[in-house]
Amino acid sequence: MSAERIEEFLGAVKSAFAGNTLIKLKLGGYHGGEADLKSIDVKKIVAKGAEKFSFTFHYKTRDIIKNHIQPEALALLRSALKDEFRSAQLATTAFDMSFERNGDKVRLKRTEVAGRDSVSTEHNRAKNRPLAATDKPYLHALGITGKDGQIRNDAQDKFRQINKMVEIFAPLIQAIKADKPRIVDMGAGKGYLDFALYDYLANVANRSAEIVGVEMRDKLVADGNATAAGSGFDGLSFEPGTILNYDATGADAVIALHACDTATDDAIYKGIAAGASLIAVAPCCHKQIRRQMEAGKPVTQLDVLLRHGIFLERQAEMVTDTLRALLLELSGYRTKVFEFVSDAHTPKNNLIVAEKDGRVGRDRDAILKQIADTKAMFGIEQHYLEGLLGL
Ligand SMILES: C[S@@+](CC[C@H](N)C(=O)[O-])C[C@H]1O[C@@H](n2cnc3c(N)ncnc32)[C@H](O)[C@@H]1O
Repeated sequence: MSAERIEEFLGAVKSAFAGNTLIKLKLGGYHGGEADLKSIDVKKIVAKGAEKFSFTFHYKTRDIIKNHIQPEALALLRSALKDEFRSAQLATTAFDMSFERNGDKVRLKRTEVAGRDSVSTEHNRAKNRPLAATDKPYLHALGITGKDGQIRNDAQDKFRQINKMVEIFAPLIQAIKADKPRIVDMGAGKGYLDFALYDYLANVANRSAEIVGVEMRDKLVADGNATAAGSGFDGLSFEPGTILNYDATGADAVIALHACDTATDDAIYKGIAAGASLIAVAPCCHKQIRRQMEAGKPVTQLDVLLRHGIFLERQAEMVTDTLRALLLELSGYRTKVFEFVSDAHTPKNNLIVAEKDGRVGRDRDAILKQIADTKAMFGIEQHYLEGLLGL
C-alpha cells in the first residue's frame, strides 16, 4: 500500500515536471544515516538545453546542489520517500500534494489551487504570459501602458494580474459548449477582465465570444464602450444599470469580480435564473452575513474564534461563501472555491467557480440541512441569496 502511494506521489511530481507546473518539492523529517542532513528542496532547471531536477541538500551548516536527469531523480526520490524522509510537500501551479509517512502507512493529501505563476526555468516569464503584446489601445486607455507602448512601472502588477485572470478564465470559457458563448460580467468597473479576456479569446485563442460588462456607473460604461470601439472589439460592450435589473437571459457565463457585498449574490442569482453554464464570482465585503453573525451571537464552542474583529471578518467571509457554494449546489452546479489572485494584489482573493451539470450533486434534503445547520451555528437568519432564490 505504501509503495502504491509513493508511486502516486512520484506520478504527480513527474507530470508537474513534464507539464512545467512544478513550483517546488520539499522533503523533510529526515531520519536516515547521513549526519546533519535536514531536508532536500527540488526544482526544475534547464541546463545546457536539458531539463533536469535540481536537488538542494540542506545540511546543518551548508547546502549541496546536485542535478539529475529524470530517471535518476525519480529513483533517488523513491528511495528517500521509502526509507529516509517522513514528509514531502509538492507545490504546483494547479495543486499542492502532501506526503506523510508513519512507519509503513502513507497519507497523501491533494489540494487544488489556482492563480499561481509557473516558475520560469529560463528567465523568460514574460514570454509565457497569455497577453504578451503591449501595443494595444485598451492597455493604454486603462493606464497600463505609457505613451511608448511599454508597461508602466507602476502598472506591472496590474498587467500581471490581468494575465492571471485570463489564465484562469479562458479555459473555463473555452469549456463552454456554445459556438459563441455570451459572457456577462456583472459590476464590470473599468472592464480590465473584459478587455483582456476578449483580446485573448479573439486574437490568441481564435475563439468567438460576446462579452457584456454591466455597470451602474455611467461614466465607466461610456469609457468602456469608447475603448472597445477604438480597439475594434465588436463583440465587447458595456451596458448601464444595476445587476438585478439586467436581463441576463441567454448568458452562458455570468462573472462578477469584487462586486460589492450582496451585488455578488445578485450576480449569482442572475446566473442561476439564466441557466448559465458557468458562474464565477470573486466576492468582496461580506457585510450582510457579518451583521447577522454579530447580532445573532450564538453561544458555540467557536465563540473564542470570533472575539477579534479580524477573525470575525474572516469567519463571515468563509460562512457567506460556503453558503453561496451550497446554494449553487442546490441549484444544480458543481462548485469549487480557490485562491484567485495572490493576496499581494488584494486580500479579496477567493473565487467561487460553479459549473452547471443539471443535477443536484447530493441529496437535496441533505444540502438544505447543511445550510440550516450552518446558519444556526453562526446565528444567521437568512442569507440574502436565499431570499433571491425564494427559499
Ligand atoms: C470593486 S469594483 C470591481 C470592478 C471590476 N469587476 C474589477 O474587478 O476590476 C465593483 C464595481 O461594481 C459596480 N457595482 C457594484 N454594485 C453594482 C450593482 N448592483 N449593479 C451594477 N454595478 C455594480 C461598482 O460601480 C464598481 O464599478
